[in-house]
Amino acid sequence: MSLPNEAPLPPLGRAIRPAFALDPDWLTVSHGAYGATPRPVLDAQTAWRARMEAQPSVFFKRILPGALRDSAAALAAYLGADAQDLAFVENATAGCNAVLQSLAFVPGDEILVLDHGYRAVRNAAHHVASRSGAALVTVAVPWPDPDPDEIIRRVAAALTPRTRLAILDHVTSPSALVLPIAQLIAECQAAGAKVLVDGAHAPGMLPLDLPALGADWYVGNCHKWLMAPKGSGFLWAQRDRQDGLHPTVISHPYGEGFPAEFDYTGTRDSTAFLSVPAALEFCSGLGGEALMRRNAALAREGAVLLAARFGTQIGAPAEMSAAMATIRLPWRGAATREASNALRETLIETHRTDVPVHPIGDALWIRISAQAFNEIGDYEALADRCLAACA
Ligand SMILES: Cc1ncc(COP(=O)(O)O)c(C=O)c1O
Repeated sequence: MSLPNEAPLPPLGRAIRPAFALDPDWLTVSHGAYGATPRPVLDAQTAWRARMEAQPSVFFKRILPGALRDSAAALAAYLGADAQDLAFVENATAGCNAVLQSLAFVPGDEILVLDHGYRAVRNAAHHVASRSGAALVTVAVPWPDPDPDEIIRRVAAALTPRTRLAILDHVTSPSALVLPIAQLIAECQAAGAKVLVDGAHAPGMLPLDLPALGADWYVGNCHKWLMAPKGSGFLWAQRDRQDGLHPTVISHPYGEGFPAEFDYTGTRDSTAFLSVPAALEFCSGLGGEALMRRNAALAREGAVLLAARFGTQIGAPAEMSAAMATIRLPWRGAATREASNALRETLIETHRTDVPVHPIGDALWIRISAQAFNEIGDYEALADRCLAACA
C-alpha cells in the first residue's frame, strides 16, 4: 500500500513476516493484544541476557543501573520527554497500580473512569476506592458512532469538586477508540482533578509528545505497537507529581525518589527494558510515523471490507481510529461475554485465527489490528472465518 505524498515504505505485509517469529499457520490480526516482537529485537534481548548471565553480580551492580537509564533516555527522547521523568514498569497495568496506590483517597473522593476503560485498570481503581471509601464514577462512552464532543461533554458533566482522579484511556481497549485526550485532560484538570492517562496502545500507534499532552501521569506499553519484548512498559510523571510516587514493590532505593525507586524493585529480568532502543530502531527502519499512517489506513481498509462482507458497520469514524478498528459481527444470538468467549475459542480452535471479540451494547464486535506484517488479504481471510464461526 502506498499513501499519497509519503516517502516509500520498505516492503511490508508478507514480505516482512520472516522478520517476526509468528507461526505462519495462524492468521494474526490481533497485534494490539500482546504485540509481536521482531527477531532483531529478540536478538538484542538475548545479547543482554548473555551479558547478565556471564557475570550476574557485575551486571546487576555495575552495568544495569547505567544501561537502564540509557534505555530510559532513548525512550524518553522518542516521547518528547526528559529521562528523569520516566521509569520503566513491566506493563501499563503495573504503572496504573503504582499511581493509584501512591495516592491517599478519603471517603467522599471520586475516581472517574470510562466504561470502555481496560478492565484490569478499572479493577485496580475499584480496589483502591473500596479500601478508602472513595467512589468510582463510570462515564458511559457513546457507542457506536461516537462523537468526540459528546465524549468531552459526558466527562465534563461527571466531574465534581470531589473528583480527585480521572483515569482516561488514550486508545480504548474493547472499542479501539482514539479519544480526544488533550481536550479531556484539560477539561478534567480545569475542574481540579488529576489525570492518569492509560496509553497502553498509544506508543508506536500514534505520534506522542507527553509533556505537551500535559497529563499528571501517563503510562504506556512498549511491547504492543513499539514491538519491544513483553514486559516493557513505562510510567511518565510530571515533575511536580513525582513526590510520593512509589512502585507497588518497595525495595532498597526507597526514599531515593522517582525514577530511582522504580529502577530497582528487587532481582528481575530487565532485558525487555534494555531492548527498547533496539525496538525503536526497528520501528524507525520500517518508516516510523509513516508506518503508523500506513497501519491506520490498512486497519480502515480492512474494517471497510469486513463491514461490507458482514453487512454490518464499523464502530467508530476514521478520525477516532488508528491502527485498530472495531466491526460488528453478524451474530444473531445474545451479545453476552459467554458468547464472545465461545466465538473467540471457535476462531482459535477451528480456524487458527486470533481476533478479540467483545460484547458492547447489544452486539458482538471484533477488534482488528494492522501491523507491519499484515496486508489486506488477512482481512479477506478473517471475513471468511468469522462468517463461518458466526454461522
Ligand atoms: C487500554 C489498556 N490498558 C491497559 C492494558 C494492559 O496492558 P498490560 O497487560 O500490558 O498491562 C491494555 C491491554 O490491552 C489496554 O488495552
